[in-house]
Amino acid sequence: MAVSLHRLFSYVLGALVVTAAAHKSAPSVTSTAASSTLTGIAATAPTIGPSHQVGRLPALGWNSWNAYSCNINETKILDAADLFISLGLADAGYEYVNIDDCWPLETRDASTGRIVPDPSKFPSGISGVADQVHALGLKLGIYSDAGTNTCAGFPGSLGNETVDAEAFAEWGVDYLKYDNCNVPSNWTDAATPPDNDWYNSNSAIRYRQMTAALNQTGKPVHFSLCIWGDANVWEWGDRVGHSWRMTGDVSASWSSISSIIAANAQHLDSVDFFSHNDMDMMEIGNGDLTLEEQRTHFAAWAFLKSPILLGTDLNNLNSTQLDIIKNAQLLAFHQDPIVGTPATPFNATASAPSTSPPEFYAGKSSKGTHVFIINTNTTATKTFEFGNVPGLGFGRFRVQDMWTGKNLGTFANKFSITVDTHDTAALLIHRA
Ligand SMILES: *[C@@H]1O[C@H](CO)[C@@H](O)[C@H](O)[C@H]1NC(C)=O
Ligand SMILES: *[C@@H]1O[C@H](CO)[C@@H](O)[C@H](O)[C@H]1NC(C)=O
Ligand SMILES: *[C@@H]1O[C@H](CO)[C@@H](O)[C@H](O)[C@H]1NC(C)=O
Ligand SMILES: *[C@@H]1O[C@H](CO)[C@@H](O)[C@H](O)[C@H]1NC(C)=O
Ligand SMILES: *[C@@H]1O[C@H](CO)[C@@H](O)[C@H](O)[C@H]1NC(C)=O
Ligand SMILES: *[C@@H]1O[C@H](CO)[C@@H](O)[C@H](O)[C@H]1NC(C)=O
Ligand SMILES: *[C@@H]1O[C@H](CO)[C@@H](O)[C@H](O)[C@H]1NC(C)=O
Repeated sequence: MAVSLHRLFSYVLGALVVTAAAHKSAPSVTSTAASSTLTGIAATAPTIGPSHQVGRLPALGWNSWNAYSCNINETKILDAADLFISLGLADAGYEYVNIDDCWPLETRDASTGRIVPDPSKFPSGISGVADQVHALGLKLGIYSDAGTNTCAGFPGSLGNETVDAEAFAEWGVDYLKYDNCNVPSNWTDAATPPDNDWYNSNSAIRYRQMTAALNQTGKPVHFSLCIWGDANVWEWGDRVGHSWRMTGDVSASWSSISSIIAANAQHLDSVDFFSHNDMDMMEIGNGDLTLEEQRTHFAAWAFLKSPILLGTDLNNLNSTQLDIIKNAQLLAFHQDPIVGTPATPFNATASAPSTSPPEFYAGKSSKGTHVFIINTNTTATKTFEFGNVPGLGFGRFRVQDMWTGKNLGTFANKFSITVDTHDTAALLIHRA
């Protein structure tokens, strides 16, 4: 049984009162005996929860996959870490430098059973890379898989969770991305589990075994479930890890980015402290996304409180792109220490058409009330009524552009702004 523990934060900030009450049970962080009504593997599966010493806020960092796919080595990883410092990304809050698939040899060490870092790619080993990343004040992430092999065919951790978690902890790893490839058929879910209890599905249990193994190492590790939105993960993810993928892989196209926003917008009740829907890594700097699409990509990941893991060769970002990913107001919303919930869709006016993804979102931060407007179509004037924004009501309001910090003026009843094709307006609103 999960302990029903309601967190309540009430802070008075000037005239603003922000109340962020948890809307759901806190994840179980104690080991409890599985219910005796469970059968099969679920009757004995570990129920230990993720560490609450890490992962309260959505992760900010970089991951090697979208930039290099399998073609990685320690030079590229350490170059990214150095660029966190020289480009000011570390100062903006970016912290995790994450190695994706293809870091090890194809076979485990015959005597220890451990996964072996490929010495031609990682001559310093993972521990040597971790030391250098830590010396910069940053954190290191690694990658494995809740199956027999990773997606690229390297050793997976299913059935070897303990030996692998011990190795990761000993090497100084701070973050584990755990993928979902090469799952033996008896570990898949052919049907909905009894009572719709997806926490006790085979899929969830594959991840729970790693949660328990990570716990046993004694080192808090950020646990990222790369489960592609399977097994209704948003219903149980916070009992197992800190974040969970909601869809298949992102690509550098508007259709991919907009469809991920649309899928995620349906499951925002699961997002709060220690509990983050993962919309996958960033494609800013990749492919031919327009500047407006790159702004929407960053803004939506920020206001929906997804992990933001940059996914490009950071050397190639130009100053406009760096300004997007370092935008102080959007990052402050994403990393807000007092409000854990994301912005959620609202109906802007009585006659606002319904779109996929939704265009209008509202949410609170410790700075005030925010409205975000994604233009899913061609350049147009977008209008919302203040009275339709949850928590605002009627009256006169001051509106600030979060992208520029510019005050846009004081407005009564409603607000209109021109938003370019596939761009996103980001607004901070205070009662005048
Ligand atoms: C392991 O779980 C116990 C019990 O919930 C908890 O007190 C401890 O902090 C956890 N340790 C780690 C490293 O997650
Ligand atoms: C990593 O790859 C880059 C580009 O191919 C190369 O310049 C560098 O020497 C490689 N580093 C290692 C450790 O193999
Ligand atoms: C776990 O590792 C051992 C080698 O130490 C290997 O023989 C075994 O197949 C692995 N288990 C799974 C389920 O892949
Ligand atoms: C699948 O089969 C393996 C090998 O027999 C076994 O260890 C494992 O517990 C099985 N998984 C499930 C979900 O029954
Ligand atoms: C940066 O690249 C984007 C395209 O991704 C372009 O629209 C923008 O003008 C560039 N900025 C600079 C300063 O070159
Ligand atoms: C918006 O309005 C539609 C129909 O009028 C309603 O079904 C929907 O729940 C509303 N959405 C929100 C977020 O209030
Ligand atoms: C997009 O905008 C065009 C031009 O204003 C309009 O004809 C079309 O219906 C819009 N499409 C959608 C899906 O709203």
